[in-house]
Amino acid sequence: MPTFQGNTTSKLPEAPTSIFAVMSHLAQKEKAINLSQGYPDFPTSPELIELVSKAMREGFNQYAPMPGILPLREVIAEKIESLYGTAYHPESEITVTAGATQAIFTIITAMVQEGDEVIIFAPAYDCYEPSIRLNGGKAIEIELRPPSYGIPWDQLASAIGEKTRMIIINTPHNPTGTVLSRNEMIQLEKLVRDTDITILSDEVYEHIIFDGLEHQSVARFPGLAERSFLVASFGKTFHNTGWKMGYCAGPELLMKEFRNVHQFNVFSVNHPIQKALSGYMKNPENYLSLPDFFQEKRDKFLRAIQGSGFKFTPSKGTYFQLLNYEDISDEQDLELAKKWTRELKLASIPVSVFYNQKTDHKVLRFCFAKSEETLMRGAAILNEIESF
Ligand SMILES: Cc1ncc(COP(=O)(O)O)c(C=O)c1O
Repeated sequence: MPTFQGNTTSKLPEAPTSIFAVMSHLAQKEKAINLSQGYPDFPTSPELIELVSKAMREGFNQYAPMPGILPLREVIAEKIESLYGTAYHPESEITVTAGATQAIFTIITAMVQEGDEVIIFAPAYDCYEPSIRLNGGKAIEIELRPPSYGIPWDQLASAIGEKTRMIIINTPHNPTGTVLSRNEMIQLEKLVRDTDITILSDEVYEHIIFDGLEHQSVARFPGLAERSFLVASFGKTFHNTGWKMGYCAGPELLMKEFRNVHQFNVFSVNHPIQKALSGYMKNPENYLSLPDFFQEKRDKFLRAIQGSGFKFTPSKGTYFQLLNYEDISDEQDLELAKKWTRELKLASIPVSVFYNQKTDHKVLRFCFAKSEETLMRGAAILNEIESF
């Protein structure tokens, strides 16, 4: 094939291959237990699969309406209002998306202009910063420090300036498993009160929260809801991340701009799955049972590694558990995660990759959305590690 000599200057020159792809690939190659990437190794609901098949058989196989089918937007609106108290209008304030990732990219593309600053908290989910950069914005990273990973409020207050266009929050938080409290949300509400700042609230783990804690959605706080995009993921909630389905809710003024971009980005998303979800979501038990389901997994995993050399604070939400290995090894986390995948056959995610500066606190992230058998095999390996 002749070699193309055109201009291929990269718009993301330093972007490495996503760590999730790297570790999952390595886990597969090494036949290691994969507690790295955030997806379940157990099946999605057979009832939901049947509903998708039925929708396909019934002919829901052409383009869905641009913002999503109305019955699905209606059940989403009902869910948000009953759980968090804000009524989003299904016609004008909710859009169904191809997963949370597409919603996040679309929000940033719709809102961020050349030179704008967007405040993010690191460790941060990996798609935020590149999406900001691709749109000419600048990510201002505020570091969350172990073991609490709490927001340094003074630092946030001084980072806010004329150029601040947006703040991205994520609760429950990937990778740390922390959650924002009611008081923290009120503090945020006060901080942005007299500004034009919009909030992108990544709430993909809203239904995976433990120890009786309540998820503090932006939709519980009028001063935040009026300026926020709320992002959710069906993949995380219904154990089918491969379907790439989610949604975005926000006040009409913001949603109008969102849809301006969405229509040229994907136009509309998977029709039969929307049809199926609109039926499945009618039973709130299908998402309200998640805290107990995942808490049992967290507790079994943590009980099993109680006597190991790792230090940890139990995850409060998400299906991730951080383990600090500083008493076991002083090796850099990325190298150690790769080494343990190759030599011990256990894959995890190094937390330094979630920091722009690659800050290494000697912490690895383990996903416990796995069958009991997988978790116990993983725990047995962790228990055997004494020094490395
Ligand atoms: C914090 C966070 N936001 C967004 C996403 C992406 O969700 P989706 O698979 O629906 O695009 C993930 C997936 O891991 C995540 O952890």
